[in-house]
Amino acid sequence: MKQFDFLVLGSGIAGLSFALKVAPRGRVAIVTKKDRAESNTNYAQGGIAAVTSKEDSFELHVRDTLEAGAGLCKESAVRTIVEEGPARIAELIELGMQFSEREIPLSHGARELDLGREGGHSKRRILHAKDVTGREIERALLHAVAQQPNIEIFENHLAIDLITSQKLGYVGEHRCLGAYVLDKQTGAVSTFAARHTLLATGGCGKVYLYTTNPDIATGDGVAMAYRAGAAVANMEFVQFHPTCLYHPKAKSFLISEAVRGEGGVLKTIDGGEFMDAHHPLKSLAPRDVVARAIDSEMKKSGADHVCLDITHKPARFLIERFPNIYQTCLRYGIDMTKEAIPVVPAAHYQCGGVMTNLDGETDIAGLYAVGEVACTGLHGANRLASNSLLEALVCAHRAARKVAANESSPTEFKIPAWQSGSAHNPDEMVVVSHNWDEIRRCMWDYVGIVRTDKRLARALKRIANLQEEIHEYYWNFTVTSDLLELRNIATVAELIVRCAAARPESRGLNYNLDHPAANAEWAQRDSVLRKSH
Ligand code: FAD
Ligand code: SIN
Repeated sequence: MKQFDFLVLGSGIAGLSFALKVAPRGRVAIVTKKDRAESNTNYAQGGIAAVTSKEDSFELHVRDTLEAGAGLCKESAVRTIVEEGPARIAELIELGMQFSEREIPLSHGARELDLGREGGHSKRRILHAKDVTGREIERALLHAVAQQPNIEIFENHLAIDLITSQKLGYVGEHRCLGAYVLDKQTGAVSTFAARHTLLATGGCGKVYLYTTNPDIATGDGVAMAYRAGAAVANMEFVQFHPTCLYHPKAKSFLISEAVRGEGGVLKTIDGGEFMDAHHPLKSLAPRDVVARAIDSEMKKSGADHVCLDITHKPARFLIERFPNIYQTCLRYGIDMTKEAIPVVPAAHYQCGGVMTNLDGETDIAGLYAVGEVACTGLHGANRLASNSLLEALVCAHRAARKVAANESSPTEFKIPAWQSGSAHNPDEMVVVSHNWDEIRRCMWDYVGIVRTDKRLARALKRIANLQEEIHEYYWNFTVTSDLLELRNIATVAELIVRCAAARPESRGLNYNLDHPAANAEWAQRDSVLRKSH
């Protein structure tokens, strides 16, 4: 058994920021299932939304966030996160984060932060590091973590399940005591005990067949928290990014919304503009509107993609502003300075998650959740672009502050070692990969951008069948990371479908043809699920 003061599950922006802030107060373990930098954070392109310019205001950022959120945001959460953002950005810069700058016009060489624009933002307010913002965030945070003797990182370690007092049969306060963790290299399962556990495991893009997310995004945190009895909310609001590169050999490559922010225009494959028929902001409308418009154009024409055209901008500007996108497209034979980029929508961001307050507290004592895994009320029914990195920074800070105020040590609990089935099955891999594909395809076909009651009912039935099979495997055979992730995507798929089926309206990202209008009664109602034990 390994004993720490703080157990941090995940090494993206949320986990690393929190770990840095609590390290002066005790020993920290960061458990992360692949290499330390591998996370959704690492692939973030557009940047971090924050009010830093004189032309902008908190009021405008709040208004844009509420508008994108389609009536479901918690306004107090929006205000706090927007208003505390600039101080957290200043800390990140202090740590060594290098945002892109530009020369101030007529200033004889003085420089200021370069601000990008994205869909739904009424002002330029996106701080970025060219088009590789996330890579630079991970670099800066991991560099700072490496200077902290109190922090130990466990790479290739996958958290299997949370350990809670209730699961162990203790009565009284329901408290998280740590987690069981699989060492992927040795296959051994260890107990990580801690006074405070932070879920910073990110989102669940891999639940869908097509996604912008890397392979780590299997919703493990939501699944673990749900199994432990924590409340999970608003899982129906899965954000589809309108512009993922369409190429048979490209896996999950995003074409940043910042390309549209700099003038990129969506067109059909015949070159016709279509967004003016869908929203006054055209290609820069909020994401839910753009993704649905593309879906509808593709269905109308039978085309398997649409195009994003920014060839009217000077080539030098594009190569300098979007070096990663330019080079990646070029590798696939597409020169974005000369031709339109083929794009399709893909699952991108989980707006719902483990229910928390703004200090990351869940309804299990000692268990916190921050970042994409959490549902704070900031995003409502549709996240405003580049608000997620901001939320993770602000809430990691607040959670660390809260933990400091909650220093009292809980009573001692006796934690048993992990028990698992011992059988090995030679055809396990084929069963795992078959079920994995089936869930992802089912979610894409039945629980995608446009939903119906019948499709949701069908999806729920299929997922229940698969869960039965997975359950049997889980208890009889030795656990592997593939099997554990499969169990998690099945759980998260079930939660998404149940939340979608429970909301009899279309709002933000939840668009249901059987209930095409918003229902005022649901305007401020979260879809909350909690496992009964
Ligand atoms: P992540 O960064 O995803 O980190 C999760 C961590 O948890 C990883 O280290 C992972 O390995 C680990 N983990 C997961 N499960 C387990 C487990 N069971 N055991 C151990 N470790 C585990 N947002 C913006 O605001 N601006 C942008 O420009 C932007 N661009 C994006 C571009 C892309 C391509 C993608 C995919 C997302 C983008 N987003 C953007 C969203 C944003 O990147 C994420 O919401 C944010 O980075 C999430 O941070 P996080 O720390 O919560 O999770
Ligand atoms: C992008 O660069 O388009 C992603 C921004 C985001 O998801 O917030």
